[in-house]
Amino acid sequence: MTPVAVFPGSFDPLTRGHEDLVRRALSFADKVIVAVAVNLTKQPLFTLDERVSLIRQAVADPRVEVRSFDGLLADFVRAAGATLIVRGLRAVSDFEYEIQMANMNARMEPNIETIFLMASDRHQFIASSLVKDIARLGGDTSQFVSKKVFERLKAKFKRS
Ligand code: PNS
Repeated sequence: MTPVAVFPGSFDPLTRGHEDLVRRALSFADKVIVAVAVNLTKQPLFTLDERVSLIRQAVADPRVEVRSFDGLLADFVRAAGATLIVRGLRAVSDFEYEIQMANMNARMEPNIETIFLMASDRHQFIASSLVKDIARLGGDTSQFVSKKVFERLKAKFKRS
C-alpha cells in the first residue's frame, strides 16, 4: 500500500510552517496532496488561484500535488484515494478545534486517520493570520514566508 496524505487548509497564505509540514509528511507518505479549501468562512486575502499558485511555487516536488477542494474534506480525501489527513499543532489552543475536526471526519469516513505533527520550534508561532497582520501594518514578514509570498504580501498592502 502506498500511503497518500492530504494536507488541507486555507493557506491564506502558505507559511514556512506549512512548508515544513509538507516536507515532514513526505517522510511517511509517498504522496502529499496539499488541499486548498475553496469555501472559507472569512473572506481570504489571496484568491484561490493565488493561494494554489504560491504553494506550487514554494513546494516544487514531484511527490506533492496541489489541488483545491470545495465541500467536505472527508469527501475529498475519499475521492482522492487517500487515507491520511495531516494537520499541524502549534499551541494547546489548536487542540480543541483539531480534535473536533478529526473526530467528525473519522465519523463521516472511518477509514480516514488524522495525523498531527507538532510544529517544529522555529515555526511554533507562525500563523497566516498574524503574518497578514504584520504585512498589513508594514512589518517585515520575510522570515515567516517564502520569497514569493513575501513579495505578494508586500504588493497587496502597498501604501499608495
Ligand atoms: O487552515 P485552516 O483554516 O485551519 O483549515 C481548515 C480546513 C479548511 C481544513 C477546514 O475548515 C475544512 O476541512 N473545511 C472543509 C469543510 C469541511 O469538511 N468541514 C467539516 C470539518 S469536520
